[in-house]
Amino acid sequence: MIAVITGASAGIGAAAAERLARDGHEVVLVGRARARLDAVAERIAHASGRHPAVATADFTSFEEVTRLAADLLDRYERIDVLANNAGVMCTKKRMTADGHETMMQVNHLSPFLLTSLLLDRVKASEGRVVTTASGAARSGRLDPADLDRSRRRWMAWLQYCDTKQANTLITAALARRGVAATCFHPGVVRTAFAPGSLYMKLLMAVPGLAIPPEQAARPLVHLATTIDGTRHAGRYFAGGVPAPATRLMTDPGLAETLWEATAALTGLSTEKPSREES
Ligand SMILES: NC(=O)c1ccc[n+]([C@@H]2O[C@H](COP(=O)([O-])OP(=O)(O)OC[C@H]3O[C@@H](n4cnc5c(N)ncnc54)[C@H](OP(=O)(O)O)[C@@H]3O)[C@@H](O)[C@H]2O)c1
Repeated sequence: MIAVITGASAGIGAAAAERLARDGHEVVLVGRARARLDAVAERIAHASGRHPAVATADFTSFEEVTRLAADLLDRYERIDVLANNAGVMCTKKRMTADGHETMMQVNHLSPFLLTSLLLDRVKASEGRVVTTASGAARSGRLDPADLDRSRRRWMAWLQYCDTKQANTLITAALARRGVAATCFHPGVVRTAFAPGSLYMKLLMAVPGLAIPPEQAARPLVHLATTIDGTRHAGRYFAGGVPAPATRLMTDPGLAETLWEATAALTGLSTEKPSREES
């Protein structure tokens, strides 16, 4: 099995890659910094005896993501798992060179672009898409016509929640297109995530709440390798099991509007689902 894992230079992604490699799978580590990827690849090689491949792209750039997709299609005849795990939480509003709010581009727009460009290969491999979402999706109130919150109040956590709501909606929309897509909440995880956030610091200080990345990586590995990743297509997992989602996390109409808006923003043409969920 070949698993492409974004955000594999640290945290949950690096831990999931190591587990998969130890279990005998081929992993491709995707990140923005070559040196950090090489360090993780070295560690995984030492632990598993298998040297993972690496590929770079900064998700603040559609050009880099497009180049990454072409590179992966060139290198791999099959992609069994695409793990969309890269993500950021920024406490200040910043726009990318492509003109989008940074969290929205890194957490939603670029993963959507990468997934779309790799989708035929994933489908031909009867593969899966697994996305690291978050319980934050429950508080998402995204507007497909204003994903950057340019016309609404921008607050860091509100915007982050919108990006994670987008992850759950796109997971549902992918399932309606016949793709074995799932997403999950990893828990509150002791990683480099949200370094400037006081809220995150407070969560980390709650005794017994934060878990190590190795534990948080388990649902990703589970959905990538077990039947749950196919039989629960479209579902949001929490605590390792399918979990109730809010209407705004799965609403089919909202998901399709978001899909079309995102396809337009990323320069892709839209594809309607060929089979509706029953
Ligand atoms: N930690 C938590 O409590 C928590 C809770 C719920 C959900 N999550 C989600 O879990 C996922 C992984 O986060 P983590 O906790 O493992 O945090 P992390 O240790 O900070 O890892 C984030 C990964 O995303 C990559 N990344 C960040 N910005 C990028 C960009 N512009 N282009 C390409 N890659 C980029 C990072 O690369 P660099 O090494 O180059 O920075 C890193 O590999 C995220 O999607 C996050 O939203 C985390």
